[in-house]
Amino acid sequence: MKELVFTAALITGSATAADLCMPENNAEGVSLSPIEYAAMIETHLGVPPVVDCGASAEMPIYIDGEKTIGDPGLHQCDNPSLQVGDCMSGSSVARYAGRSADGTERPDVVWASFCRHDGRGDDWGIEIPNSVQMIGYNTLTGATAFFESGDNKPWVSADPETNRLVGRLPGIDDPKAFNHAYRTPGDVQCVACHQADPFVHNPFIDGAKRPGSNRPVVPQVAGRKSKSNTPYFVIGASHWDMRTIHIEDNGCLQCHRIGMKTLEEFIGDHWHPNDHMPPRDPGSLAADFEALKRCWIDGPEKTPGCDWIIPPAGDCASQVVDEAYPYAARFNQPRAELLERPERKLD
Ligand code: HEC
Ligand code: HEC
Repeated sequence: MKELVFTAALITGSATAADLCMPENNAEGVSLSPIEYAAMIETHLGVPPVVDCGASAEMPIYIDGEKTIGDPGLHQCDNPSLQVGDCMSGSSVARYAGRSADGTERPDVVWASFCRHDGRGDDWGIEIPNSVQMIGYNTLTGATAFFESGDNKPWVSADPETNRLVGRLPGIDDPKAFNHAYRTPGDVQCVACHQADPFVHNPFIDGAKRPGSNRPVVPQVAGRKSKSNTPYFVIGASHWDMRTIHIEDNGCLQCHRIGMKTLEEFIGDHWHPNDHMPPRDPGSLAADFEALKRCWIDGPEKTPGCDWIIPPAGDCASQVVDEAYPYAARFNQPRAELLERPERKLD
């Protein structure tokens, strides 16, 4: 029997899931209840934090450099959210040092929470609820957990005076409430946008600074030459598509991986890499970006010197994967038109 399987593999030349080095994991975690998922991730990430939106660091919103309060409308500010271009003020983020259930510190673990003041009823004629999400990350193994927003209305509201989201969310010591306030991602692969690394960075989210410093609240796990190959996998989501494209010696990949899908999202909201990257000399790597763009659109399969890779994870090093990668997801396909600068609605 074994021989037969071996022959079949030889004929198709295909790599199966069994050939990939992956940390011990499963595909069920992201469909469990939040409290069950919290138990599953505990050895990797300790316990999730108790989020207090009012105590988190607000992302300031600017119009022509002036801080503004309220909702000027999609894309009507200097630093919109790059998910849909939201300019609503009053969102906030917080970071937390890792902690085990018994209170011991976990210096290898960091968490971030995001109180997103959406609450726009006007744009698509549907009420978008405020959301509170969390991400936990183990910097040594790459183990990551995503908690999606549930119904947080019993705990969260917008302060009418400051327009800030306020309210304290339940923790795991109140399992029923925790299951109400959060959800697990289910079929939504958070890595479609949290693709390069667990934490997304842009001028909106990084507007929230750590006290007394210019460093962002949201953890920077990559972004420096020494940290371009950070470990990353999602607990209970062994089937999520973790691939990004890689060209050896491409200047854009010196400091971090790049999620081209994330980039399509960013460009649609008027954040173009040649205006922002590399941070100290924007535009100087336009040719390197062009090479990535060509590979993304034509596909690594058709582009010499360009490969799909998956990040290091647990004891596994970063790996090149081919067409036989079993977890290729539909999201990870190019939409070339989204990489072109959209026409400015403003100005
Ligand atoms: C369609 C793209 C997209 C998807 C899918 C997505 N996110 Fe995000 N997320 C973003 C962007 C963009 C930001 C940065 C803030 C901004 O620009 O709005 C962000 C920021 C966050 C943050 C704040 C910390 C950080 O990384 O900057 C959390 C927490 C978060 N997302 C949780 C989640 C969870 C949980 C899921 C899956 C259920 C998810 N996201 C799926 C686009 C996405
Ligand atoms: C010298 C280091 C450096 C180089 C080179 C560089 N970047 Fe970045 N990049 C950063 C830093 C720092 C951030 C923000 C923080 C982070 O990811 O930790 C960032 C963030 C990004 C993001 C947001 C990523 C996300 O998923 O949150 C994108 C997209 C990006 N860079 C694209 C590019 C492109 C395209 C190039 C080449 C034109 C490039 N970068 C070159 C340092 C660099």
